[in-house]
Amino acid sequence: MTRKVTKAVFPVAGLGTRFLPATKSVPKEIMTLVDRPLVQYAIDEARAAGIKEFIFVTSRGKSALEDYFDHAPILEQELRKKGKTELLEILKTTNMDSGAIAYIRQHRALGLGHAVWCARRLIGDEPFVVMLPDDVIAAETPCLQQMVEAYAETGGNMVAAMEVPTEKASSYGMLDVAEDMGAVVSVKGMVEKPPAAETPSNLAVIGRYILAPSVLKNLNKIKSGAGGEIQLTDAIAQDIENGNPVYGYRFRGQRFDCGSKAGFLQATVSFALARDDLRDALRLYIDEITHSARAAE
Ligand code: UTP
Repeated sequence: MTRKVTKAVFPVAGLGTRFLPATKSVPKEIMTLVDRPLVQYAIDEARAAGIKEFIFVTSRGKSALEDYFDHAPILEQELRKKGKTELLEILKTTNMDSGAIAYIRQHRALGLGHAVWCARRLIGDEPFVVMLPDDVIAAETPCLQQMVEAYAETGGNMVAAMEVPTEKASSYGMLDVAEDMGAVVSVKGMVEKPPAAETPSNLAVIGRYILAPSVLKNLNKIKSGAGGEIQLTDAIAQDIENGNPVYGYRFRGQRFDCGSKAGFLQATVSFALARDDLRDALRLYIDEITHSARAAE
């Protein structure tokens, strides 16, 4: 029997330079996809997977993120007075139970691995989840829930995996596959951002992980890797050498890279088209602009 996973770490201490100047004062995770900040999608997905404790690794300038999860008594009072029960319900989804959410500071952006290591005392000696809110995944069964179900069978470590074209390998952590069992693959190695010619497979790791506490011990010893950062990938790969298995999980769903401008825009259009209240107006507009673009050709 694997232990139930109830803690999730959200590393959100990065500088978000690809969204400057917006991220000068607005944390990337608070940026809005349709009408909810990225972080709300991540929290909802974590809750659906049974997560009870939410650990945010933050940095300077991220106070808007902490405010977002606070109660808003004046706003709630106003909405109640006006009988806006639907809006009150929407607001409720942002409320967290007392003590369920914790914030830790990463004082310097030394990499994703270092950010996770900063949360080591709150994680303790149990398996934990790492979620990157800028990877947004549209799925019928939320991605993390799919992984938790698969992990109940496998144990070890599990990373979300997705096929990418070879020329994109240098943007991801890539899996060296030992055995392909369909949705689950067992992994014999992991390489962070390899050149296309050197990638061991087309399976890329994306921002959902279920990790054994031994990965934290590996992080203790890891020096900076690719790009001078302390890489989470290296600490997970190290666990294979320690005899603790690592699995890739091919999730069912569509992943959007909301850490990039193009990915964020694609997610915005896709999520809006999935909404009953926005679909018609948006479709009309898209048809209009594609027709006028064609006419101009
Ligand atoms: P990214 O590689 O997307 O970096 O980090 P970034 O700083 O957020 O964005 P750009 O590239 O400058 O535009 C992936 C995830 O790891 C976190 C980020 O907050 C993001 O969720 N991270 C990265 C940290 O928490 N600390 C770090 O030192 C680095």
